[in-house]
Amino acid sequence: MKILVLGGSGFVGYYLAKHFNATSVSAHQKEGYVKLDITNKEEVSEVLNKIKPELIINSAAIADVDLCEKEKETAMLVNGYAVGWLSSLSKEIGAKFVQISTDYVFDGLTGNYTEEDNPNPINEYGKSKLIGEENSLKNDAIVLRIEMPYGINIAKNKNVFFESVINNLKEGKTVNAAVDQIISPTFVEDIPKAVEVLVEKGANGIFHLASKEHFSRFEFVNIIADVFNFDKTFIKPVKLADFKMLAKRPKNTFLNTEKISKLYEIKALRANLEKIKTGMLI
Ligand SMILES: NC(=O)c1ccc[n+]([C@@H]2O[C@H](COP(=O)([O-])OP(=O)(O)OC[C@H]3O[C@@H](n4cnc5c(N)ncnc54)[C@H](OP(=O)(O)O)[C@@H]3O)[C@@H](O)[C@H]2O)c1
Repeated sequence: MKILVLGGSGFVGYYLAKHFNATSVSAHQKEGYVKLDITNKEEVSEVLNKIKPELIINSAAIADVDLCEKEKETAMLVNGYAVGWLSSLSKEIGAKFVQISTDYVFDGLTGNYTEEDNPNPINEYGKSKLIGEENSLKNDAIVLRIEMPYGINIAKNKNVFFESVINNLKEGKTVNAAVDQIISPTFVEDIPKAVEVLVEKGANGIFHLASKEHFSRFEFVNIIADVFNFDKTFIKPVKLADFKMLAKRPKNTFLNTEKISKLYEIKALRANLEKIKTGMLI
């Protein structure tokens, strides 16, 4: 099967492209990647018609929440509108479209969100990703919502929270973690495996992929420290409001994973952390 991964030079996209042995696409010219700016509709059409993939997985996005707040038109173009023409062109050429989305489509007032719950984003990133979801669903896509992916960023394109926790605790530096932000982080290695299962089953619509457990960021960092044997005194409990960030963050967006669990087995957080630790040879 010919598979195209958009955003293959990013944190999540790298894992998707590797797992599927796919043609990997980046926005910028880079060795090993097909260059494509998804906001350029003509270029998208040219590339899709030339490669003729049977499966297109879109992990390309502006995933920096504060940058989206600052540059909301660009965020909407990349995360929202471009997904419209990508998914409709996919349908036209007979390719299945998979859109990677986010828990930030929810307002975070209740947590335990199911696929049926109404989104209500509170920042520009969430608003733009919701438009991307709506556009893809019009074209029989799979929308896979993930939450704060954790794992090693092999693409090395940015700092990810998990790695900065590991690096800071290893060096005996303080890690401030919110006690009032509730999460259910997604193991990054689960994403391609779950996509594969959903595509094989001929699924359509929205699915939530996250850990089955939920906890505060503070608890999450403590569990990481436990597994990696780091000194926990460097972990400082703070409130979300203590971080001065441009965009508002939803407080409790833990995702209900019952739907996907019928098709894909989500392993416990500690087991995944042990797996990462073994791979890192720490
Ligand atoms: N990271 C998170 O915490 C998180 C949480 C929930 C959901 N998600 C979702 O997961 C997906 C992947 O996120 P990520 O963290 O892996 O992102 P990332 O590391 O920031 O990578 C973004 C990717 O998008 C590409 N891209 C950006 N603008 C583009 C454009 N105009 N045309 C083509 N490609 C473009 C980038 O290409 P270049 O390398 O060339 O710039 C890069 O490959 C996104 O849909 C995001 O919304 C992420």
